[in-house]
Amino acid sequence: MEHTAEIKEIRTLLAAHRDKTIALVPTMGYLHEGHAALIEEAKQHADIVAVSIFVNPLQFGPDEDYDSYPRDLERDLSICEKHGVDIVFHPVTDEMYPDEMEFTVGIKTMADILDGVKRPGHFEGVVTVIGKLFNIIQPDVAVFGQKDRQQLMIIERYVENFNVPVDIIGVPTKREESGLAKSSRNVNLSESEYTEAAEIYAALTNAAEQIKSGTVNADKVKSFIRLHIEQRTSGSVDDLAIYTARSLKAVDNIDQDVIIFIAVQFEKARLIDNLYVSI
Ligand code: PAJ
Repeated sequence: MEHTAEIKEIRTLLAAHRDKTIALVPTMGYLHEGHAALIEEAKQHADIVAVSIFVNPLQFGPDEDYDSYPRDLERDLSICEKHGVDIVFHPVTDEMYPDEMEFTVGIKTMADILDGVKRPGHFEGVVTVIGKLFNIIQPDVAVFGQKDRQQLMIIERYVENFNVPVDIIGVPTKREESGLAKSSRNVNLSESEYTEAAEIYAALTNAAEQIKSGTVNADKVKSFIRLHIEQRTSGSVDDLAIYTARSLKAVDNIDQDVIIFIAVQFEKARLIDNLYVSI
């Protein structure tokens, strides 16, 4: 496995592989089994797998957890090696943003909901760094997790709108046995919060059952989820929405496939999750 922090060097390393197909797995590091699932999926779609590790300051708000975001490059490199990654790109901030960006990405409507509202500028920062990574690595395929479903949908749309020649692949959410979605941020949970956080997925799956057995009123389902979380965890529900799976439109009566989105704020970690409910 090769790895570098420099754009010039990653380009040289990749030049030797341009006769092969290349998959990129973009990450912010502190890798876990969710990232590993993306790497394994990437191997199915390309000859060469590249992983990027970069905690992108542009996608963090001023009061967010950029500084406390967990980082451990040595550990990440050994996880990549173990999973058969070919190339790791782990730039420092100055390499990616030597100067303040003159150009910005604008998102018309897809950032008007959920984390686009709760985290102003977040998705613009994500699309900016993904655009840069795509131009640096020039992959044939890029792999993203459904855990961050709004991010995945925005990137799919970005690639479509700008005819970016990269196939986007979405991978189902990897969970702990308890149901808790794997996340780098889980290390910022206390022991008791970590146990309680499993209730997020429990609430979502119970809600899915309710919907499947005929509850159509979205407000009723949301109240049920909110109560479940508030009674069983010390976290607070920061965001909760039920949108059509096709176009992320709000629904009053659930009469088609929907996605339930949730964000729960614990003391030092804000966790997001979502569940696709087909009816
Ligand atoms: P990060 O949170 O490190 O996640 C990197 C990729 O792993 C994303 O595509 C995310 O959806 C996926 N992922 C995280 N947890 C997962 C899980 N439990 N199961 C499956 N996939 C999971 O998302 C980002 O970084 C950044 O926004 C990035 C896209 C790298 C841009 O900076």
